[in-house]
Amino acid sequence: MTVPSNSAAQASIDHSGSSEQSPVERSRALRDTLGQFATGVTVVTTLDASGKPVGMTVNSFNSVSLDPALILWSIDRGSLGYAAFTQCERFVVHVLKGDQQHVSNLFAGRGADKFGQVKWHAGPGNVPQLDDCAALFHCRRAQNIDGGDHTILLGEVLEFSASGGEPLIFHRGRYRALAGE
Ligand SMILES: Cc1cc2nc3c(=O)[nH]c(=O)nc-3n(C[C@H](O)[C@H](O)[C@H](O)COP(=O)(O)O)c2cc1C
Repeated sequence: MTVPSNSAAQASIDHSGSSEQSPVERSRALRDTLGQFATGVTVVTTLDASGKPVGMTVNSFNSVSLDPALILWSIDRGSLGYAAFTQCERFVVHVLKGDQQHVSNLFAGRGADKFGQVKWHAGPGNVPQLDDCAALFHCRRAQNIDGGDHTILLGEVLEFSASGGEPLIFHRGRYRALAGE
């Protein structure tokens, strides 16, 4: 996902989708319109079949159920980590803090050496756990659900913790800070 420049995000916009648009135009308009929905930013990690750490930046994370404790996120079928995440036993969702934009950019890089550039350790089940995040959720992969060009991963939360701090926000293709109280 590219992050457009600042000024465009501040301007007023008028996106809409219609059947007269080409598929490419309509897809762009849908993406821009979905971008109106502000989210937090997470990094999800796991191990691949050979035991190598895998991770990617994700803003499709959301809560699903308290009892049982379930969360979800969706992964693009074209991601390099697709096989690892859709076949893993466990994954960890890390909620990023406001000053972790560089971590988000690092894990949004395709095939980059992501784990050489951050502090992490092997957590429960040996799944890579990043140090110093706002919150984290250790999950058992409970179900894969078909979601078009993405697959929705449902996770059962096994362990979780929060250290607080201001969260990183993503809105209209750029990072933002939380507005004052
Ligand atoms: C803020 C942000 C949120 C993202 N959210 C998702 C997401 O929810 N699902 C997804 O598949 N990709 C998402 N991406 C894109 C992936 O992080 C990116 O494609 C990454 O390169 C995938 O890594 P891989 O191809 O090395 O597995 C997001 C990127 C950014 C910057």
